[in-house]
Amino acid sequence: MKLGRLEFAVMKSRPREFIARRVEYRAFERFGFDPAGRDVLELGCGSGYAAHLISLQNPKSYSGVDIMEEQIALANRRALPENFIFIVGDAADLSSFEDSSKDDVIIFGALHHIPVWKKVVREARRVLKPGGRFFIDDPNQGFVVLAMKLMRMEHDEAGLFELRELEAELGACGMEVRGKKNLLCGLMWSLWGVRKP
Ligand SMILES: C[S@@+](CC[C@H](N)C(=O)[O-])C[C@H]1O[C@@H](n2cnc3c(N)ncnc32)[C@H](O)[C@@H]1O
Repeated sequence: MKLGRLEFAVMKSRPREFIARRVEYRAFERFGFDPAGRDVLELGCGSGYAAHLISLQNPKSYSGVDIMEEQIALANRRALPENFIFIVGDAADLSSFEDSSKDDVIIFGALHHIPVWKKVVREARRVLKPGGRFFIDDPNQGFVVLAMKLMRMEHDEAGLFELRELEAELGACGMEVRGKKNLLCGLMWSLWGVRKP
């Protein structure tokens, strides 16, 4: 689902970048996210702020996918190494990526925007190498509903899911949850898992 004008503006704001850097990225690092020398795929990469953070740790490669051309245009304006690419595409259809080709798949706050989020989870599993790692964070369902009301915005309810539903889906498609944590006093959660061999 593409972002509305207000959310698009919020997502590229300084406060958003602060939270992404100091809260979300840090939570992934505490889980053990270390992209150095690894093939990384980010789904719903937005304007590429996480890509900028990842570039500081020298991954082997980085690919960012986002459905909005406007977001990819912003991401492409960043001064990033040549092994960083951004693609306009749907996270639920990663057919341009080979099976078992990525060491890490990461998603920052994008899964609740995708009504077919279960397909995204399955695609992430397919492109991960055995033992590859999946890092996800998202706002809590209740927080999304409240934020949308306050901003007078609509949100497709199909994209709203409980954390336990995600955990069940991960288990069902051959991934093992290794850790989870509440962020921002429970307004968000973060989780990581690995693809079983
Ligand atoms: C809330 S924003 C988060 C952006 C970025 N990850 C961040 O943390 O700033 C959600 C992003 O998911 C993208 N998105 C929504 N549906 C998508 C889909 N089916 N495939 C890929 N990206 C999608 C939107 O375009 C948007 O950039």
